[in-house]
Formats: sequence, structure tokens, C-alpha cells
Amino acid sequence: MKAIVHEGKDGFEGLSVQNVEEPSVSENEVKIKVKAAGMNRRDVAVVTKRHKGASEPLIPGSDASGIVVKTGEHVTRFAVGDEVIVNPGLGWKHNSDAPPEGFEIVGLPDHGTFAEYYTCTDEHVEKKPGHLSFEEAAVLPLAALTAYRALFTKGKLKEGQTVMLPGIGSGVLTCALLFAKAVGARVIVTSRSEEKLSKAKELGADVAVLTEHDWAEELKGETVDLLLESIGKATFEKSLGIIRKGGTIVTFGATTEDEVTFNIRQFFYGQYQLLGSTMGSAEELKEMLTFVEEHQIKPQLDRTFNLDDYQHAFQYIQQSENFGKIGFKVRD
Ligand SMILES: NC(=O)c1ccc[n+]([C@@H]2O[C@H](COP(=O)([O-])OP(=O)(O)OC[C@H]3O[C@@H](n4cnc5c(N)ncnc54)[C@H](OP(=O)(O)O)[C@@H]3O)[C@@H](O)[C@H]2O)c1
Repeated sequence: MKAIVHEGKDGFEGLSVQNVEEPSVSENEVKIKVKAAGMNRRDVAVVTKRHKGASEPLIPGSDASGIVVKTGEHVTRFAVGDEVIVNPGLGWKHNSDAPPEGFEIVGLPDHGTFAEYYTCTDEHVEKKPGHLSFEEAAVLPLAALTAYRALFTKGKLKEGQTVMLPGIGSGVLTCALLFAKAVGARVIVTSRSEEKLSKAKELGADVAVLTEHDWAEELKGETVDLLLESIGKATFEKSLGIIRKGGTIVTFGATTEDEVTFNIRQFFYGQYQLLGSTMGSAEELKEMLTFVEEHQIKPQLDRTFNLDDYQHAFQYIQQSENFGKIGFKVRD
């Protein structure tokens, strides 16, 4: 089968499209003919941060949609012909404060979804939402699950509250914008791009601010109940400065640098809350899918690439050209 493989050289130089052996199917597994695969910034991190000169071939990719073409003898949840999506989180079944030991993400250390076939146990597969195309369904799971847990499980966002989303070009945050509007929250976004700010307003953002501007000045003193912080060092201090007293920051990413400094005295006087989050459990994935179907939400799909166009796809997301999600169209 055709697959994007990373091996030998660091970063994008180690990427190629190869013909590799199709995965076999064990008794609890389903084999999926991949129709589309979603791409995340994690895929860039995986190929740039793998140990130097990694020689073991790895198929990256955490998200996919497709059709079940074979089932193991113990599989009862799915049958050949079912249209499905893959749960990008492995080994986190039930809702909990943090993932259990052994939790992993599809696409490192084991092979991922940028291939014509993908095989996993049936408990890591869910039915494709009927209102979504294969491309839309493929880009949904990782980003939307992360947004869902950060906004609702951790951030406890409610109707009438205000949430701020810095860096709205993000696949995760465009999902968060759609989810927050669906529950009747007010949404403030930032971006480095005027064009992305206009697109965010078309999606329902109430206020749009350039990331490099003075947020407090632009918001004329308004503060927010909740802020999803995924940029890291470049924005963390500004994010902390815009939360109302007693408000919450949920952090799940560090697109710029990992280490930040802030004034702990201002923090405890303000009685702020800082919560970490990462993806979500299989239970939360099901809750998120129900929510998406109830509200007929479609993820913001920027564009898809062919597998052969992998260099362009990796550069596109690395350089933040995307507004929302991108993915690979693997099969017609
Ligand atoms: N912990 C988890 O489970 C989890 C899950 C998913 C994602 N993540 C992390 O969350 C982050 C977002 O993921 P994603 O897949 O949505 O990424 P993405 O689509 O690449 O979006 C990242 C956004 O960050 C903004 N940005 C990038 N560089 C910036 C800079 N130097 N200064 C200010 N803003 C900058 C850009 O927004 P503008 O172009 O609008 O300015 C960009 O669109 C990543 O760090 C990812 O690794 C974590």
C-alpha cells in the first residue's frame, strides 16, 4: 500500500511516499480502507522531534476516516462496509482527570494513518457522523476532542460566558469557536492575520483582535471567563492579563516555546485557575460526536492534499497557512 513514511533523516527531509506492506488484522481488530486522513501540528512535531536520524520507518498521522474492509473474528461492533473514524487516543477509555498510564496517540510510537490502510482494535473506532463527508470526518477527531475537553470538561464553559481563543487559525481553535457558539457563549479571537480574523467572524466570532496588538486596549477593559492557550511563550503573559479575576486558562499546546514566566503574586491575588488538558477519553470522543451531530457542526476544512503532495502539506501547517483543518485525500 502507499504510505507517507518518515525514516533516516531528521525533519521533513526524512519524509517520502513509499509502497509498504499492508497491516494484518488480529482477532480484535478492524482493517480500514482510509478515505481521508486529518493532519495536525503534532505531525510536524513528530517528524521534527523524533530522535536524530531515526532509522525505524514510521507512518505518521493520527486522524482518519474510511470504510471497514476486514474484521477480526472477535469483532462485534463493526462489519465490513461500515463508514468509520479512528479515535486518535489509544488506551484512555473512561472519563478521568488525566489519561491513564500507557496512553498513546496514534502515529507515534506506532504507525499512524497517512496510508491507504490502517488497522486498530474495534474499541478505537467510531461510526462516521452521517452529516460529514469523509474529508470532514477525517479532520475532526483529534482537534475536536481536544477542543471539547478543554472548553467543556476542563473549562466548564456555559451559555452567556465569554471565551477567548488566541491564534484562531488553529485546527483545534476553529473547532472550539464552533462549539462555543453552539452553546451560546461570546467568543473573542486573535490571529496574526487580518484575513483569518475576517474568516473567524464569518464563523461567528464576536470580537476579533490582531495577536500583536494590545489586547486590553482593544477590548476596552473587558476581561474573559475562560481562555484556551495553545501558543505558549509568545502569548502566555498576554493571555493571563486578559482573564477576569477568578477566571480560567486551559492550556494544551506550546506552538512557540514551552517555558513561560509569570508573576505568581499577581496570579494568586487574582485567584486565577490554570489547567492543563490533553485530547480526551473514548467516552468524551463519543460525547463530542453526539454534540457535533446534535448541532450539525462541520469542522472548518481549509483544504486537502494528495499523499504525494506531503512536503507541501507539512510546510503549509508549519507556516500556519491554514485557517482550520487540513488533511490528505487518500482514496476517491
Ligand atoms: N495536548 C493535546 O492534546 C493537543 C491536541 C491538539 C493540539 N495540540 C497543540 O495545540 C496547538 C494547536 O494545534 P493545531 O493542530 O490546532 O495547530 P495549528 O492548526 O497549526 O494552529 C496553530 C496556530 O497558532 C498560531 N501561531 C503559530 N505560531 C505563532 C506565533 N509565533 N505567534 C502567535 N501565534 C502563532 C497560528 O494562528 P494564527 O495564524 O491565527 O496567528 C496558528 O494557526 C499546537 O501546539 C499543538 O501541538 C495539543
